[in-house]
Amino acid sequence: MSQQAISVDNLNLYYGQNHALKNISMDIDKNSVTALIGPSGCGKSTFLRTLNRMNDMIPGVKIEGQINIHNQNIYSDQVHVEMLRKNVGMVFQAPNPFPKSIYDNVAYGPRIHGLRDKKKLDELIEKSLRGAAIWDEVKDRLKDKATGLSGGQQQRLCIARALAVEPEVLLMDEPTSALDPISTAKIEELIQELKTSYTIVIVTHNMQQAARISDKTAFFLSGDLIEYNKTEQLFSTPKHKQTEDYITGRFG
Ligand SMILES: Nc1ncnc2c1ncn2[C@@H]1O[C@H](COP(=O)(O)OP(=O)(O)OP(=O)(O)O)[C@@H](O)[C@H]1O
Ligand SMILES: [Mg+2]
Repeated sequence: MSQQAISVDNLNLYYGQNHALKNISMDIDKNSVTALIGPSGCGKSTFLRTLNRMNDMIPGVKIEGQINIHNQNIYSDQVHVEMLRKNVGMVFQAPNPFPKSIYDNVAYGPRIHGLRDKKKLDELIEKSLRGAAIWDEVKDRLKDKATGLSGGQQQRLCIARALAVEPEVLLMDEPTSALDPISTAKIEELIQELKTSYTIVIVTHNMQQAARISDKTAFFLSGDLIEYNKTEQLFSTPKHKQTEDYITGRFG
């Protein structure tokens, strides 16, 4: 049996009058890849953002229910949101490196969290860049601007930046949708390697991608979690007609 990393209970989220997540309950396995799929506007990104409280800053948001990550209720008053986001990192759709050097991009988080020792920092940068499978491509140009990298390299740099603060969970919102097929394949391969050390939750519009890389898949529709199952089963024998319609391309 896999251990569970995240447990979501009766989660409801409202943007003003818009009930964007409707009573979602799901457990997410540790050291696994969980894919979130569903048509545009169904709540995938909203759900992902609830896992590190990124919706908190949006005005008019109301969140009910409970989310436990490694047995801590992340919406409790005792939780330091900064520490939560260190533990639950995020990679976005468009690569968004800071306009700084490659080195400083990866050093950014650790420095904020107080790491000053140059040798330790160097080691951590190398480890993070290796972890994101980009070390060999950048090791001789660490002082160069990150914005000079290709899109696929920038996205792997952003993954390295997320890894540098040593999180346990990685959230990825359509991380390959802006990338060419070769860069996409590299990131997919990387995700497979990363799941041995991290719990990964990924939003994707690409069903082949979900089928290739995830262990479990959750299908959302209009804020409801319609079906959540082992990826193989969800794609081969969906239990709900709506899931079947979506994965066979009849809508969405
Ligand atoms: N910041 C926001 N303020 C108000 N409403 C929002 C906000 N973000 C999302 N919504 C609404 O919440 C619902 C879910 O949006 P969300 O972005 O989570 O969908 P999604 O499944 O990620 O879609 P896509 O595939 O297009 O990225 C939509 O009705 C959207 O308009
Ligand atoms: Mg989205």
